Amino acid sequence: METPCYLVQATVVVLSLLSLHLALAKTNQTKDDTRPPHIVFIVTDDLGWNDVGWHNPQILTPNLNSLAENGIKLESSYVQPTCTPSRNSFMTGMFPFHTELQRVMDPSKPTYLPLKYPTIAEKLKQRGYSTHMVGKWHLGYCNEKYTPVRRGFDSFLGFYMGSQCHYTHVKAGSLVESVTTSTSVSSFGHDLINSFLRVRTQGLTEGRDFRFNNTVWRKTEGEYSTHAFTDRAIEIIKRQDPDEPLFLYIPFSAPHSPLQVPSKYEQLYSHIKSRERRIYSGMVTALDEAVGKIVDALQDKGMTGNMFLVFTSDNGGSSYMGGNNLPLRGGKNTLWEGGTRVPTFVYSPTLLTTAGSVSDQLFHAVDWFPTFLEAAGAPPAQGIDGLSQWEFLTTGKSSPRTEFVYGIGPEGKGAIRVGDYKLIVGRPGLYNDWYPIPGTDPVKRARFKGGRHDSVKLEKGLNLLFNIKDDPSETTDIAGQFPDLVSELMDKYSAWNRTKVTPHEPERIALADPALHGGFWTPGWC
Ligand SMILES: *[C@@H]1O[C@H](CO)[C@@H](O)[C@H](O)[C@H]1NC(C)=O
Ligand SMILES: *[C@@H]1O[C@H](CO)[C@@H](O)[C@H](O)[C@H]1NC(C)=O
Ligand SMILES: *[C@@H]1O[C@H](CO)[C@@H](O)[C@H](O)[C@H]1NC(C)=O
Repeated sequence: METPCYLVQATVVVLSLLSLHLALAKTNQTKDDTRPPHIVFIVTDDLGWNDVGWHNPQILTPNLNSLAENGIKLESSYVQPTCTPSRNSFMTGMFPFHTELQRVMDPSKPTYLPLKYPTIAEKLKQRGYSTHMVGKWHLGYCNEKYTPVRRGFDSFLGFYMGSQCHYTHVKAGSLVESVTTSTSVSSFGHDLINSFLRVRTQGLTEGRDFRFNNTVWRKTEGEYSTHAFTDRAIEIIKRQDPDEPLFLYIPFSAPHSPLQVPSKYEQLYSHIKSRERRIYSGMVTALDEAVGKIVDALQDKGMTGNMFLVFTSDNGGSSYMGGNNLPLRGGKNTLWEGGTRVPTFVYSPTLLTTAGSVSDQLFHAVDWFPTFLEAAGAPPAQGIDGLSQWEFLTTGKSSPRTEFVYGIGPEGKGAIRVGDYKLIVGRPGLYNDWYPIPGTDPVKRARFKGGRHDSVKLEKGLNLLFNIKDDPSETTDIAGQFPDLVSELMDKYSAWNRTKVTPHEPERIALADPALHGGFWTPGWC
């Protein structure tokens, strides 16, 4: 059976030279403006550590490189290992084990971001911001009250679920998303995962998933998702009164699978043998072009002089879907650094006194919410997990963050970071290896094989301790050498563990079936 992903073919475009959209100076323009800044929050989907130009020159991201170099690269910026949990943290400043959203949402289950947690969009709207969202939501849609335009956004163009075909906007089946870090398999071969994926994706109900606000939207059918989102973002910027503050949240759906990109981007990588990696890299370059165009539009509108832009990813790269996290270990779906530490930078021509720097200070996904609030001059939020990093980012003061929890599964497995140390409690996920760049780089993997063998401990689910500063690749478990440190971190971890709530995991509901809603995944059944 032909998969609906490919009903619309990518048009073949003549290879055009990659253009650098931005000419940015290392700035020290002064902000002569006491109004709250425009906030542009760009989130990529499954972008790996080794998938951006500043970590890997093979990847062509001239616009992003330029923004990152003229902003602050946050090299210790952490997120959750999968999408829903991270998006939960971005929107609420809460760890997912406090909001019942430890799991990735299943489109047929009545799961959602509980209304008692205000979103950053709601908060900024109260401060007079125009709030717009373009892209992937993945925080619930079974009732309209859980959708973006009812959770603080003035407008929304995009999709409710976790992934979709990039041209048809049909929800692609996705086992990957139902795998959680608490799964009891400790290691799993690459091929096995692929066959597992194929089996599991058969028989899932498929439906279209694309909306403008809450209206079913077919005008973008056949349009490449990254392009459709960029056009809408530019339209929002063009319509914005530059004197009024704008919050623009752009969670792109790339480079998440299915791997699809117009061929002109793939052709930039014709020297790469693996088709998977060529397409994936092309998807990243299409994103780079998109960000360049969006910043151009902001410049044209005179908005960059009072703007704070964030670029990050929802989790690490998926090593079996074109992504790469070297030299970090593991990937998406795991508590290893490769799943949780992501390429991140902030950029502003006027607000950052340490523009042009690289920072190793700890930053977590939950911190954006209070950071944006402080940027907007709003009173600090009470009772959240996030810490405002506004002063650290804008004045160079130390980050207030000294510890964070990578994740806690319902059974209490997880990981914690305190200072330079990371304690992994139980199994960190399915993929415990250092995965080479698909098709290109078998040698690199060997470099890490020298790491101490922790496979027996992994198999048994025993605790591991790493010094992430000295050993960012997590090659050498030092739990045996530092029992006192292990118990100190374990005490802190146990304290967090006692605060966790049970994930909300209702049964699937047949009424969710898109066949009952004109072929679209549609709210109204919970
Ligand atoms: C930044 O400011 C300093 C001192 O005011 C000045 O010498 C320098 O040329 C400025 N740099 C840029 C890129 O504007
Ligand atoms: C969505 O809402 C925005 C803001 O109210 C509005 O400008 C836009 O026209 C709406 N889109 C549709 C298709 O109704
Ligand atoms: C975490 O809490 C669970 C109970 O919810 C308990 O069974 C488990 O032992 C705890 N783990 C740690 C490391 O404290």
